[in-house]
Amino acid sequence: MRKSNRPFVRCAVLSLIAFLFAFAVAAYAGKLEPVGAVPVPKDNAQTPEKIDLGGKLFFDRRLSGDGTMSCATCHNPEQAFADGLDISLSYPTTKNWRNSPTLINAAFYRYLFHDGRAKTLEEQALFPIMSAFEMNKNLDYLEEQVRIVPEYTESFRKVFGGDVTRERIAMALAAFERTLVSLNSPLDRYLKGDKHALSEEARKGLLLFQGKGKCADCHYGVNLSDDKFYALNVPENPVLLNDPRVTATMRFVAKVYHYRDFKNLKEDPGRYLITKRKADWKAFRTPTLREISKTAPYMHNGVLKTLDEVIEFFNEGGGRGNKALKPLGLNAEEKAQLKAFLSEALIGKAITIRYPELP
Ligand code: HEC
Ligand code: HEC
Repeated sequence: MRKSNRPFVRCAVLSLIAFLFAFAVAAYAGKLEPVGAVPVPKDNAQTPEKIDLGGKLFFDRRLSGDGTMSCATCHNPEQAFADGLDISLSYPTTKNWRNSPTLINAAFYRYLFHDGRAKTLEEQALFPIMSAFEMNKNLDYLEEQVRIVPEYTESFRKVFGGDVTRERIAMALAAFERTLVSLNSPLDRYLKGDKHALSEEARKGLLLFQGKGKCADCHYGVNLSDDKFYALNVPENPVLLNDPRVTATMRFVAKVYHYRDFKNLKEDPGRYLITKRKADWKAFRTPTLREISKTAPYMHNGVLKTLDEVIEFFNEGGGRGNKALKPLGLNAEEKAQLKAFLSEALIGKAITIRYPELP
């Protein structure tokens, strides 16, 4: 090869690499995958004893200030680990501002919460316990209250080789949550080659999900979530606008997150609270669609009551003024097929929980 050709060759090779990379990214986006093993962090291995301890703490009302609430109050196993309300339950005299998401498959997310403010289940777990409008428990007090229970002290020693700490409480809760996985759904069986796992209606719905409906642009991978944030401009839930307790809650959270004008805040700023980037104003994380037919109502504020309402929302191109979506032009038959896919294909094997006997 003559020397003068080298820059050209290098350039061509680089372009080819760039092209292949772009192609690989584009081909991956939109790809659906069956659920497999959950990711487990190196410093919090799953052991049966730890999961057991986490399960006890999950149902233990000691974790709330007034002893009325456990994690299961708002993440109820009978309601697919959500609470079935548009706006979640709250600590007495306060009012929550967001919808309680299912914990099934939460272990697969890169960002937790509707606005992604936590990155691991371990980090997340202490938020609701401390939150003034959720469990409202002082963590120093909680440590002492757990430590005076001999069974707990013994369990912590066995599981962690040491004393009760808030970090270990969170680690045990996280280990328990990593067992809440939607496995062997009709979609998974279909993706693994069982062509009869989906009804014809649901199969057509899947094609729409990946094609004309563009759902898989954002809802893909194992968890049907790209773990990104979009401002779809979901309408406000009127409950949130008119209840002064909710206003107090959102201003409180905004203040904690150093939002300057928190005293005048009247709506949920979404991801903006965390990043302060304009593009994140009212942006929320793409949620999983696993078990979706069991977790109504929908969206961060529960404002859409049924899957029909959700499909209509996307068909119309999302909320007013949003830049993330375009109208889809689905007809009645196509909407029904999409709904068949969402409601039939994504329900996994039932998760059976043995309610633990609490010490
Ligand atoms: C009073 C109701 C309530 C209680 C009690 C509660 N949660 Fe939640 N949980 C919520 C709400 C509401 C959200 C969403 C909040 C947000 O995104 O800002 C949430 C979010 C989560 C998430 C993130 C899920 C996701 O999709 O990102 C996890 C994990 C979680 N909770 C675990 C727990 C654990 C563990 C406990 C007990 C220590 C607990 N929760 C107690 C209401 C509650
Ligand atoms: C641009 C990315 C994007 C596209 C395209 C998209 N979604 Fe979503 N989806 C989201 C985000 C972000 C949310 C959460 C919005 C919120 O909470 O305010 C969401 C929420 C949902 C929910 C509610 C989930 C829950 O637990 O509350 C359903 C159901 C849903 N999408 C289905 C679909 C369907 C069906 C399509 C195709 C017709 C679609 N999505 C297209 C990003 C997208």
